Amino acid sequence: MRLHGTSCLVTGAASGLGAATAERLAAGGARVFGLDLASRLGAAPVVDGVTYVPADVTDREDIRLAVARAADTAPLRVAVNCAGIGPSARILGRGGPHDLDLYADVVRVNLVGTFTVLVLAAECIARTQADEDGRRGVIVNTASIAAYEGQIGQAAYASSKGGVVGMTLPAARDLAQYGIRVNTIAPGIVETPMLDSVSEEFRASLAAGVPFPRRLARPEEYAELVAMIVSHDYLNGETIRMDGALRMAPR
Ligand SMILES: NC(=O)c1ccc[n+]([C@@H]2O[C@H](COP(=O)([O-])OP(=O)(O)OC[C@H]3O[C@@H](n4cnc5c(N)ncnc54)[C@H](O)[C@@H]3O)[C@@H](O)[C@H]2O)c1
Repeated sequence: MRLHGTSCLVTGAASGLGAATAERLAAGGARVFGLDLASRLGAAPVVDGVTYVPADVTDREDIRLAVARAADTAPLRVAVNCAGIGPSARILGRGGPHDLDLYADVVRVNLVGTFTVLVLAAECIARTQADEDGRRGVIVNTASIAAYEGQIGQAAYASSKGGVVGMTLPAARDLAQYGIRVNTIAPGIVETPMLDSVSEEFRASLAAGVPFPRRLARPEEYAELVAMIVSHDYLNGETIRMDGALRMAPR
């Protein structure tokens, strides 16, 4: 699938992986619509070819409008789900049991939000004209290696990301008849603002645990993988770990 002359939608585009992806897709010739919470858009980088749209992935109307806006300029071909939150809490912590509303919030943003964007983007992509090979578009989701090796305090986050991994194959199967591929990236530890609260010392210890390369991943490496998935017609229904062979320990 070629990017030139298409429209792409990226959620969580004001920061980290989403920002790098929006920039990469725009550099590839796409017209990119970068969605994020209105409160976060002030901090979004100014990038040629990227239009920012305030949208909360937990709000269906926001996403419906953003999809329509993206499709207005050029055929929507790509949707990338990067919006996410990663709070940590133990099931039985010092302050009491896990906040059940927090659990529901994490699942609502990371899992239900991803599914909402996938469904509404797929509906729009399915209405476009297929190319000569029957291709219409690609959806890329973001899970985490926590889907497989959730650490202490990650029950909510790992549940939400496990759901994203789980939806990948059935979504690809459902959408195959429309020429839409669905893949998921499960990153290890990427140097993004999500790690801002982590001390330099802890960051170094995280990097030391990565077999090779012995460092944290860069957002640009994630964005490059998105571009590869978009261009590679035979990648479908798969979750790809991008983690330098890291396997997380319990803590
Ligand atoms: N950074 C890592 O090490 C890492 C590892 C594995 C997975 N991930 C996943 O990658 C994705 C991107 O993370 P990041 O590291 O770039 O984090 P980030 O905090 O830099 O960016 C996430 C963006 O999502 C936005 N967002 C949050 N809730 C939203 C909502 N309801 N609607 C719209 N936008 C919303 C935030 O405002 C923010 O701009 C997340 O899903 C995260 O779980 C990150």
